[in-house]
Amino acid sequence: MVRTVIIGITGRMGQALVRAASEFSELRITGAVASPKSALLGQDAGELAGVRSLGVPVTSDLPTALGQADVAIDFSQPCATRVNLMACHAARKPLLIGTTGYPSELASVFDAAVRDIPLLVAPNTSVGVTLLIELVRAAAHALSADFDIEIIEAHHRMKQDAPSGTALALEKAASQGRGLAEADVAKSRAVNRSGSRREGEIGFAVVRGGDIVGEHTVLLAGQGEQLALTHRATDRAIFARGALRAGLWLADQPPGRYAMCAFLGYKTAS
Ligand SMILES: NC(=O)c1ccc[n+]([C@@H]2O[C@H](COP(=O)([O-])OP(=O)(O)OC[C@H]3O[C@@H](n4cnc5c(N)ncnc54)[C@H](OP(=O)(O)O)[C@@H]3O)[C@@H](O)[C@H]2O)c1
Repeated sequence: MVRTVIIGITGRMGQALVRAASEFSELRITGAVASPKSALLGQDAGELAGVRSLGVPVTSDLPTALGQADVAIDFSQPCATRVNLMACHAARKPLLIGTTGYPSELASVFDAAVRDIPLLVAPNTSVGVTLLIELVRAAAHALSADFDIEIIEAHHRMKQDAPSGTALALEKAASQGRGLAEADVAKSRAVNRSGSRREGEIGFAVVRGGDIVGEHTVLLAGQGEQLALTHRATDRAIFARGALRAGLWLADQPPGRYAMCAFLGYKTAS
């Protein structure tokens, strides 16, 4: 039995994780964490998600929850990523970070943590997007620089970060496919641009509205032809199932940095 702490339990993804957890007989939710200001502290995590009572009250005390856990899965808010990671590091517990939009300065904190714990940072835990990232890398590598790359993403009106973490992962894969060094990836970025394209630019168009779960298209536009690679999520359960499967896998890994593609068996790291 893999004892699992869900961080961000009261949110859209936290609730989806609790509902999907019943599909995994080898997984037990033993910790349910929200912010200290949460109006739902003390409520049963299962009842909150509309499933049977789990006997696990919502708490803001992550260090105590980790004491009884084998792995933690974080889908909370980017402002909490550092504190959550440090708590998992201190407790020597594997951590999957599904939260997006955390500050880029956290890279050094990730580097320090992976010496001691398995860490999987997954801007998108769906199987389809994990494959899309590899397809984009291959397409950008195969097509000449005459093909302009644009990334179009759409999400629900409550989403806080933009472009999405997945859109940035697609940008990274396209840049890698084109042979760009990691340090140069953001330099060619243009978000909702005005004016004409710069050479080699990767453009983003961001749509926010309604209850859109998540859509990403990478458009490679050449002269007289266009290639569009699209993933459309219609149900948050795909992210929840992917995260739980990856969390179960992560609990057994040695310390190190992992990506979804490694867990799914793709050869190229994203
Ligand atoms: N990787 C993926 O595949 C994927 C898929 C979907 C979403 N996401 C990302 O996952 C994150 C959550 O998305 P969501 O739509 O579920 O957001 P949400 O509905 O706003 O939920 C956020 C949750 O975080 C909790 N929270 C806030 N501050 C916290 C803290 N300091 N410590 C612990 N918990 C805290 C909130 O609890 P209270 O308000 O009750 O305190 C709430 O339960 C976002 O970053 C989103 O972009 C990733």
